[in-house]
Amino acid sequence: MAHKVGLLSRNTIFVVLLIPLFSVRAQDLSEMKVEGIYKNICSNCHGIDLKGGLSSSLADGQWEFGGSDEEILQTIKDGIPEKGMIAYGSVLSPDQLRSLVVYIRELEKAEQDNSITFPELDPDQVITTQHHDFRVEVLTKGLDTPWGLAFLPDGYMLVTERNGPLRVIDPNYKLVTKPVADTPPVIFDGPEGGMMDISLHPDYKNNGWIYLAFADGWRDENGKSYSQTAIVRGRIINHRWADQEWIYKADQKFYTRSGAHYGTRMAFDNGYLYFVVGERGAMGQAQDLNRPNGKIMRLYDDGRVPEDNPFINDAEVPNEIWSYGHRNPQGLVIDADTHTIYATEHGARGGDELNLILKGRNYGWPVITHGINYDGRPITPLTEKEGMEQPLLHWTPSIAPCGLTIYLGSEFSKWKGDLLAGSLRAQELRRIRLAENGLIVEQEVLLKGFGRIRDVRTGPDGLVYLLTDDPSRLFRIVPIDKP
Ligand code: HEC
Repeated sequence: MAHKVGLLSRNTIFVVLLIPLFSVRAQDLSEMKVEGIYKNICSNCHGIDLKGGLSSSLADGQWEFGGSDEEILQTIKDGIPEKGMIAYGSVLSPDQLRSLVVYIRELEKAEQDNSITFPELDPDQVITTQHHDFRVEVLTKGLDTPWGLAFLPDGYMLVTERNGPLRVIDPNYKLVTKPVADTPPVIFDGPEGGMMDISLHPDYKNNGWIYLAFADGWRDENGKSYSQTAIVRGRIINHRWADQEWIYKADQKFYTRSGAHYGTRMAFDNGYLYFVVGERGAMGQAQDLNRPNGKIMRLYDDGRVPEDNPFINDAEVPNEIWSYGHRNPQGLVIDADTHTIYATEHGARGGDELNLILKGRNYGWPVITHGINYDGRPITPLTEKEGMEQPLLHWTPSIAPCGLTIYLGSEFSKWKGDLLAGSLRAQELRRIRLAENGLIVEQEVLLKGFGRIRDVRTGPDGLVYLLTDDPSRLFRIVPIDKP
């Protein structure tokens, strides 16, 4: 840990103590965004960019007085009188104190990210990580914002593209020019929605069922769209989508003008299909059991509702609901051995989550969250509440998690059973190892800066396959045996 240099002399303490107190009186803090609060009362000492000035940097990852979120919050609240750090507990509300922690974390991460230079995708580049060294192999370019990936038994792959098409990649990783014909129309107005996840039925070899999750809907006479997350299954026959059946379609009254937070992912287990409906930008609806928004759903693979779903006896509640209080999960995976369900979801500013999904449970959004609003104001003063689940881990600042797999192949033998989570914004692939009690025992960034990761899957060959946009491509990582 770097040594902290106390730059304050007796005189400077006198001067700087006056500045913040004066600023507090002159400005009404209660309505101020977190950037404003920092600028008005912290920047005098810690620097406008948090990199230090009269006192230490808050962005260098070095914490002399404790580096956990709780400890940082405590420092700001109680101050460090002997060093000249003022106690802000009586000046700032608990919400504002927590917002400051999020803000400090964001700039700390930005600073860390800046200090690392990441290699271009180079086939000879060896990436060294804790348990395995590997290299990256780009397989397919020319995709347009790919979203979901599925492996067919004959070496072909299927990839969904956000603006609608279902693409085929041949066993030599060549993109087949023509998309599959006659796939369902999608609503796609902004960066979200459109065609999303794809999943093969576990018994695909015998029944040929392919499941698609997408933004279904219609346009009114002015071209305005109404949409909701929906799921169909069908087969591909002669490069055409055929035999389509609806698996999930919400009641028409739940279709909305919003273009945000559709989710979604699908995962099969034991004859059931689990999938996500995001809260569609209406955060309060995640707690409303009478709506599909902000829920993880469970159906039989043919779309029937299982008799033991948790809210089956409540006439008002959509019978598909398995868990609720979600914001926008875009990672979902089930451990086939233990039937454990994991989901990653996007928070607002901070508060991205990895959750263990249990029947009938409430995951708290937006009553509790570790994040704050995009504008720097709090969403809620609460990070926890009785009757609401805590995440296994939360990412603050946000990484924007998307795509999740459990590594069960043999190529990366030391990752067996670990979760691999992709992320859009932070452009990271993370490996997470959980102990049996759900505690995180290892977390590392395996890849960074190779594009916004949309999907990550373990291939039938035991290699890890990834889809990115910005740039759009399919690539995989291949272990390098150490001598
Ligand atoms: C009057 C100057 C001053 C102001 C204003 C000030 N601090 Fe500090 N702060 C200090 C000093 C001095 C320290 C002790 C570390 C050092 O020597 O720089 C410190 C330490 C800290 C630490 C602990 C750092 C560590 O290494 O563990 C945090 C966190 C912190 N300040 C946050 C804030 C926040 C947030 C604000 C605004 C609400 C703020 N400070 C305003 C002077 C100030």
